[in-house]
Amino acid sequence: MLSSYFKPSVLKNIAAKTGTPVYVYSKALFLKQISSYKKAFRALDPLFCYAMKANSSGALCALAAAEGFGADVVSGGELYRALKAGFEPGKIIFSGVGKTPAELAYALESGVLFVNAESFEEVLALEREAVRLKVRAPLSLRINPDVDPHTHKFITTGKLGSKFGVSFEEAQKIYMYAAESEHLEPVGAHFHIGSQVHSAAPYALAAGRLAAFILKLASRGVNLKYADVGGGWGVKEGGEMLSLAPLAKAVADVFQGTGLRLILEPGRSIAAPSGLLLTKVLYRKRGGHKNFIVVDAAMNDLVRPALYGAKHPVAMVAPGRGARKVYDVVGPVCESGDFLAQEVTLPEPAIGDLLVIYSAGAYGFSMSSQYNSRPRAAEALITGPNSWRLIRRRETYQDLIAPEL
Ligand SMILES: Cc1ncc(COP(=O)(O)O)c(C=O)c1O
Repeated sequence: MLSSYFKPSVLKNIAAKTGTPVYVYSKALFLKQISSYKKAFRALDPLFCYAMKANSSGALCALAAAEGFGADVVSGGELYRALKAGFEPGKIIFSGVGKTPAELAYALESGVLFVNAESFEEVLALEREAVRLKVRAPLSLRINPDVDPHTHKFITTGKLGSKFGVSFEEAQKIYMYAAESEHLEPVGAHFHIGSQVHSAAPYALAAGRLAAFILKLASRGVNLKYADVGGGWGVKEGGEMLSLAPLAKAVADVFQGTGLRLILEPGRSIAAPSGLLLTKVLYRKRGGHKNFIVVDAAMNDLVRPALYGAKHPVAMVAPGRGARKVYDVVGPVCESGDFLAQEVTLPEPAIGDLLVIYSAGAYGFSMSSQYNSRPRAAEALITGPNSWRLIRRRETYQDLIAPEL
C-alpha cells in the first residue's frame, strides 16, 4: 500500500511547516522501485538510465545516481541537471526529437555515453558539432518500430506516423553513412514505444524487430554495442508499479546471449508511486447535480488529469467525519479542464482538511507551470519514519516576475 509510506502525522507536519500545495516524495519508495528494477533484470545486467523528464528533482536524481543509475535526458537543461545531480557523464544518454546544435555540442563536451538521434538532419548536425570540437560522436538512432503500445494517443510514440524516430529502412541508410564518417561512431540502436504501457507484448515485438535489424547491420559491417529499449512501463490504477517480470522476460528472450549491452530508460514506474500531491480544501460547493471540492492545488501543479484524463487515487489525510458523497476535486484555475479527480467518493471534508492525490511523483512537478501566475508548489522528501526535508522551496510572487526585463 502506497499510503503506508506517507504517514498522516508526517503529512500534517509537512503541510503545517511548508503550506500547501506541496509534492511529497518517499525516499524509501523511490529506492524500492529502483531495487525492483535491479532484481527483475539481474540476469541481464543492463544499464538503467532514469528518464529525468518524469521527475528531475535534484534530490531524487541524486538517489538514482547513487544507486548506479545513469540518466536519459531530453534537453540541455536536463543534461545540466543530470550532471549537477551527480550522474556519471558516461552513463547519460541524450534523447529527444529536436536537439539544437548547441545542445548536441553540450552533450559531446560533457562526454555522454551516446546521443539518440531521430533524423538524418540531426545526425548531420551532430557530425558538424563533432568536426568543430574535433571528437568522434557516439551515435545511436531512435528507430520507430511501428508497434502499438495500446496507451493514450498523446503518449503513443512507437507507431509510424508519429514524430518520433526513423523507420528501419531509413535507419539502415543513416548507419551506413555514419559508419563511413570520421566523426561519427555508431554504437547503439533505440526504441521507446510509449508511456504507461501495461503489456509486455509490444516490447517483445519491438525488441524482436530491433534485434533482427542489429544483426542485419552487423552483416553489413556495422557492429553496435547497445540495445536501448526505452522506458514506458506503467503503473496500476491504484498507483503502484506493475510487476516487472513480464517486461524482463520479454527483453531477455530477445537479447540474452546476444552480447549487446541492454539499456532501459524507466521514468514513470520509478517516480510515479514515490510521490503524492498534498493539497488543502478551500471550499465545498454544489453546481447543478455535482458536488465540488475546491482545493488549493490546480492543473498548473498537476496537469495529467486535464491533459490525458489520468486518474489519480484521492484520499483524505484524516478520516472524514461527514457522509460519503461523489465529488469532483477541482482547483482555482480559470479553466473547466482544471480538475484533479472526477467522480470520486469521499467523506464530506471540512474546510482546511488535507487531501492527497496519489501516484503524482511522475510528470507532476516536472510538467507544472505558473499558469494563472500561480507560483509553483514546494517539494518535500520523507527520509525516515518521522523525518522529512524540504527539497525545493515554494516559489514566491517575486519568482514570477524575476526573469522579466
Ligand atoms: C525517449 C524516452 N525514454 C524514456 C521515457 C520514459 O518513459 P516512462 O516515464 O513512461 O518510463 C520517455 C517518456 O516519454 C521517452 O520519451
